[in-house]
Amino acid sequence: MDSAQSMRVVIDWAFSFGDAPLTEVSTLVSNWAYWTETMTTVRQKLLHEAIPGEPGVPTSKVTIVGVGQVGMACAFSILQSGVADDVTLIDVAGDKLQGEVMDLQHGSLFLKTPKIRAAKDYSETAGSKLCIITAGVRQQEGETRLDLVQRNVEVFKHIVPPLAQYSPKAILLVVSNPVDILTYVAWKLSGFPQERVLGSGTNLDSARFRFLMGEKLGIHPSSVHGHIIGEHGDSSVPVWSGANVAGVSLLSLNPELESKLDAEGWTKVHQDVVDSAYEIIRLKGYTSWAIGLSVSGLTQSILKNLRSVHPVSTLVKGIHGIEEEVFLSVPCVLGWAGVCGLLQQPLKEKEAQQLVQSAKTLWSIQKQLAL
Ligand SMILES: NC(=O)c1ccc[n+]([C@@H]2O[C@H](COP(=O)([O-])OP(=O)(O)OC[C@H]3O[C@@H](n4cnc5c(N)ncnc54)[C@H](O)[C@@H]3O)[C@@H](O)[C@H]2O)c1
Repeated sequence: MDSAQSMRVVIDWAFSFGDAPLTEVSTLVSNWAYWTETMTTVRQKLLHEAIPGEPGVPTSKVTIVGVGQVGMACAFSILQSGVADDVTLIDVAGDKLQGEVMDLQHGSLFLKTPKIRAAKDYSETAGSKLCIITAGVRQQEGETRLDLVQRNVEVFKHIVPPLAQYSPKAILLVVSNPVDILTYVAWKLSGFPQERVLGSGTNLDSARFRFLMGEKLGIHPSSVHGHIIGEHGDSSVPVWSGANVAGVSLLSLNPELESKLDAEGWTKVHQDVVDSAYEIIRLKGYTSWAIGLSVSGLTQSILKNLRSVHPVSTLVKGIHGIEEEVFLSVPCVLGWAGVCGLLQQPLKEKEAQQLVQSAKTLWSIQKQLAL
């Protein structure tokens, strides 16, 4: 409040006394200088603001929809990376949202993200560069997969259009399951171009694959390369021909690697990847940390325009013989624009056939959805 505004307040107050004795009013007015002094805030006394008001607009704002186990693991990993200048969280569960955000804010001393906030409505997500959707409903007993998908479509109808309205240039990253179908749903509901809508897809499956191969070899996963592509989950496809350490192909060292005849049991590595989510859910009720870290990796590639390659769910119509409008994971180059390119990965006939089959299965569900 400047001195003119302060004086105005005092005069208005003085007039509100009406018939009060003149001496009281004049004492009040003569104390105006004191009032001006005391109404200056500590912030104003401490700081000469070179740029008044709150400077600038966020340039790497990330919105996370859903503050469940997955949303919070994503938020925490992204905050730890320091890649975003604003992390905004939104959820229909208001108290949980407030509690989670307060808890994160209290860690600000140890973080490098100046804004961590809870959005009351979608207008507060405006200007996001990346919107990550982790919200969803869980499968109920006896519920079919299709019923679950349709219920999550209804959830997405409340989420995607307002995200697109307030952040029309954002990239949408879908994590909620079934991730490949819901990425298609997000693409349809947003009206965004295909390169700006992707799903976390088999990025997590591939991380698990590299970890398990690394365990077998006694080598850190960062040095063990290999991709799992296709549908996230049960029908994912391991590309054994690409598995290598420092360019040394594992298949060239053991041609039986991908066969059940292999005495070393390498095919079990992929089976363990498929089973691992079920096993973790059996043990702790949900999965969170690895998906959070993998989403943080995708976030860094996008916001820093790293153009690094990740297997993520993208529109694959016309690739590897797929004819349907479906999203499946293939190695993609990620950057500012979202999916900047798709790798032309040579596949064996059997691998390509598996993708074609997954595409048909996904389409048979998608065509029944009420969007
Ligand atoms: N893609 C992957 O690799 C991967 C890995 C793990 C989990 N997931 C999926 O992530 C999703 C979230 O899992 P979770 O364990 O965090 O679930 P959760 O039940 O703990 O959290 C879901 C959150 O979504 C919120 N929500 C529901 N409807 C909403 C709406 N309309 N708007 C805003 N928020 C809403 C809920 O309030 C809740 O906080 C699930 O679909 C799960 O299957 C995906």
